[in-house]
Amino acid sequence: MKTYNIALLAGDGIGPEVMKEAVKVLNLVEQRNENVKFDLHEALFGAVAYFATGSAFPEETKTICDKADAILKGTIGLNHEDSKKIPIDEQPERGALLPLRRRYNTFANFRPVYLPKGLAHFSPLKASVIGEGIDIMIIRELVGGLYFGDKEAGINAEGKRFVREVLEYDEDQIRQIVRVAFDVSMTRKKVLHNIHKSNVLKSSVLWNEIVDEESKNYPEVEVKSILVDAAATYLCLNPGMFDVMVMENMFGDILSDQGGGILGSLGLMPSACRGLKKSYYEPSHGSAPDIAGKGIANPYSMIGSVALMLDMSFGMEKEAKNIWAAMQNVFAKGYSTSDLSKANEANLVTTEEFGDLVCVELAKMPVA
Ligand code: IPM
Ligand code: MN
Repeated sequence: MKTYNIALLAGDGIGPEVMKEAVKVLNLVEQRNENVKFDLHEALFGAVAYFATGSAFPEETKTICDKADAILKGTIGLNHEDSKKIPIDEQPERGALLPLRRRYNTFANFRPVYLPKGLAHFSPLKASVIGEGIDIMIIRELVGGLYFGDKEAGINAEGKRFVREVLEYDEDQIRQIVRVAFDVSMTRKKVLHNIHKSNVLKSSVLWNEIVDEESKNYPEVEVKSILVDAAATYLCLNPGMFDVMVMENMFGDILSDQGGGILGSLGLMPSACRGLKKSYYEPSHGSAPDIAGKGIANPYSMIGSVALMLDMSFGMEKEAKNIWAAMQNVFAKGYSTSDLSKANEANLVTTEEFGDLVCVELAKMPVA
């Protein structure tokens, strides 16, 4: 019997609703796999933690996360108005999420832009553009660049307000993420799109140098370097040309949201944030305060994050595949939630019902 200790950070907005469905799936996985046990530990994180304790990432939560084998995170953040009730440095993004990434050095962010044919109707792209479906793995550097560089704001010599933010990477940081991307490419189509802006940014010049150096260690992988702005265009025009894409933090933030756009929703994009010692898993979407509590948020991204966790942290690849298949089956039967679909497009169900349907489908699959 293997016991895995999992920290659950449900967070704000729709976080608790979608987390509930993820836990349902985890419980079923535990029932189905006699030799696996999950120890689940809930902890406060985000605005909810700030209001309860005065800190968006309280010490108690840090301790729970430190002890965990993996962390499953919901969503954090408030709407613009409510955010103002929290001091800037304790707002959930700066006060909880970035410190979580830094604490566990989760440098490798995996964001699958995966649109099998059965989900194609959610995409705003034409059927001729989608072709046989979209299957891209965006790999984003997550603990460097502008997000974590020095920041300064004040009044300059001319008496004007100014701000300065530093985009810094050293070669080891770049090499580390680039190697992850090559390794992933080796398990897929062996074509790696390297996203950069070396016609303007020196950081991209160094980035590309490292990609060239590392490509010698992966002679089977074809590297295609492409400017980030052009990549944004091609993601819309011809997403089928991409398999694995690697990029620095800020580029990855933007292009991965565009990935969600071509799927039709960030609600269709789970993610994994991997460090060498610890990883956390989260949906790519936000806390959607406007629909929180209505029971209409689709838990696909959150449940997909469970699948990524089982696969990447616990080596349960087959059960992860079963979860993906279970979710595709639910959609294939025409079910959806109203955040993804307009009425009459599908059999509309609630967040909870969607989770139940996923469990029904999963229960039918042979145990891995
Ligand atoms: C994401 C989010 C975060 C980011 C925010 C919430 C700080 O947009 O995970 O992509 O910018 O990294
Ligand atoms: Mn983002």
